[in-house]
Amino acid sequence: MSFTRMDQGRTDDWMEIGKEVAKRQSNMPLIIKSMLRQLEEQLDGFAINQLQHGLQTATRAVRDEASEEMIVAALCHDIGKVISVDNHPAIGAEIIKPYVSHETYQIVRTHQDFQGKHYYALMGKDPNARSRYENEPWFEMARKFTDEWDQTSFDPDYETLPLEYFEPMIDRVFSKNTIKLSANQ
Ligand SMILES: [Fe+2]
Repeated sequence: MSFTRMDQGRTDDWMEIGKEVAKRQSNMPLIIKSMLRQLEEQLDGFAINQLQHGLQTATRAVRDEASEEMIVAALCHDIGKVISVDNHPAIGAEIIKPYVSHETYQIVRTHQDFQGKHYYALMGKDPNARSRYENEPWFEMARKFTDEWDQTSFDPDYETLPLEYFEPMIDRVFSKNTIKLSANQ
């Protein structure tokens, strides 16, 4: 690259940078799989580790005949915990945002408040935190996602599909080329 400061860049420099970023971004399925494997180290006091929890949530989605995108969202909904448990819904939602629908993005972004129905009261928080989303078109899907798949998936005895089962789905969902030559540097 010829420039050492952005204000000296030329259009062809940025075209080249865009190409390089797109090339690296094509590794996204590998990055997601590696982040999911990191979740295996996180038990955080639960009966199963966070990878197993994601696999179990996704397995329930498979058995409920959810769409492939929703299955992958179920698998990845807690992926943000690799960075921070506190704000993991926002981190996870932003990671998957370029690859999924607005509805799926919102379900991952808000899933903790939906989960709150089942444990917020124990912590002095509002168990009806989900009610603020009542008028959203994705509310029912988010309810199903958390009440039927996510909050039930801490069971060491549940027959859970392995990561290998989901890998082709990860490959398909995260292979979309999302890179536009833009001002996102
Ligand atoms: Fe979860």
